[in-house]
Amino acid sequence: MNDTVIVTGGAGFIGSNFVLEWISQTGSKVVNLDLLTYAGNHENLLSIEKDPRHVFVKGDIGDRKLIAGLFAEHQPRAILHFAAESHVDRSIEGPEAFVKTNVLGTFALLEEAKAYWNGLTGKDKQDFRFLHVSTDEVYGTLGPDDPAFSETTPYTPNSPYSASKAGSDHLVRAYFHTYGLPVLTTNCSNNYGPYQFPEKLIPLVILNALEGKSLPVYGDGLNVRDWLFVKDHCSAIRTVLEKGKVGETYNVGGSSERKNIEVVHAICDILDEQRPSDKIGSRRSLITYVKDRPGHDRRYAINATKIREELGWQPTQVFEGGIRETVQWYLDNMQWVENVKSGAYQQWIDLNYSERLAK
Ligand code: NAD
Ligand code: TYD
Repeated sequence: MNDTVIVTGGAGFIGSNFVLEWISQTGSKVVNLDLLTYAGNHENLLSIEKDPRHVFVKGDIGDRKLIAGLFAEHQPRAILHFAAESHVDRSIEGPEAFVKTNVLGTFALLEEAKAYWNGLTGKDKQDFRFLHVSTDEVYGTLGPDDPAFSETTPYTPNSPYSASKAGSDHLVRAYFHTYGLPVLTTNCSNNYGPYQFPEKLIPLVILNALEGKSLPVYGDGLNVRDWLFVKDHCSAIRTVLEKGKVGETYNVGGSSERKNIEVVHAICDILDEQRPSDKIGSRRSLITYVKDRPGHDRRYAINATKIREELGWQPTQVFEGGIRETVQWYLDNMQWVENVKSGAYQQWIDLNYSERLAK
């Protein structure tokens, strides 16, 4: 065995940030398996396109023959599993893809990882890790005064997305308890930062606000998320991979709970400052309250005491710094933005927002 790792979903938002940092920081080889769905973008990886330490493989995590072949060929020391269908609104429109990729795809990876791990011996077998990247949404929703989610909070997922992630978490857990597969799971709060596909709140609002389009806020805008800058999530995953105790789960959060309307205000104000426009005026005037998401979770909050105290990880960015850096990244990367706003993107915007006319 060597230092190679397999990353699934490494052309998506978090996965591509992770792969870029991994290659620049560790210098070891990454085999990046991604199906390049609408959310996967090869352009995120342009800077390492010709780097021999990056091997890109287009394929499905559910393709067991392909996965078995990758394990046999590359003899990785770990697999880091990011690939998923990840957007709650899409899971409401079409849940089947979520069950296929998030549940059955994770099952296929676990089966092939188990077969590979069973064939290892000695230190190679002892050191192998299956790191599963999951979400805080598996814990359901919180009231305003409830304590934040900890690793012992019961699972009560509410959307097809979170239910499918919960299913995958349970399978990962079972492969540890039943077969001894050395797994680690991280449950992370909402991420933001470079390369996020503009169907999620923050990049959607940045791009609409830049163009003077309306800024759709679901419901009363008072839902709360705990925002984590993506680079902090990547460092948490590296920490858990190196120091995490097998079979354990770790909650990862940004200590940055904000109401959605506060997030939208922050973006409007930064853009008014960085890109003032007489034609648009104050970006806050673009805010439009629209029909709520069905089953919309009210609040997510993470208690990250375990990862801080046991593994020494904590986030470096609070929301106000991270959101500035994020807005600036989008301003500096308008070509990337133009390229992702393809036909498929526009179709989604039409589907999701035409039914959500202003309240
Ligand atoms: P994303 O949607 O941006 O990227 C997902 C990637 O997976 C894409 O590149 C896509 O092409 C790939 N993919 C999808 N189906 C595949 C399949 N069947 N086989 C191979 N590749 C496939 O997602 P993201 O926001 O980067 O999230 C990554 C992981 O982190 C997910 O597991 C998600 O549940 C988890 N997570 C995300 C957040 C967040 O705020 N974005 C927060 C917590 C946890
Ligand atoms: P999102 O980025 O989709 O992440 P998640 O649903 O996984 O938390 O949404 C973040 C919050 O913003 C969530 O409460 C829903 C809300 N939201 C809007 O108000 N308007 C929008 O157009 C979108 C996409 C989300």
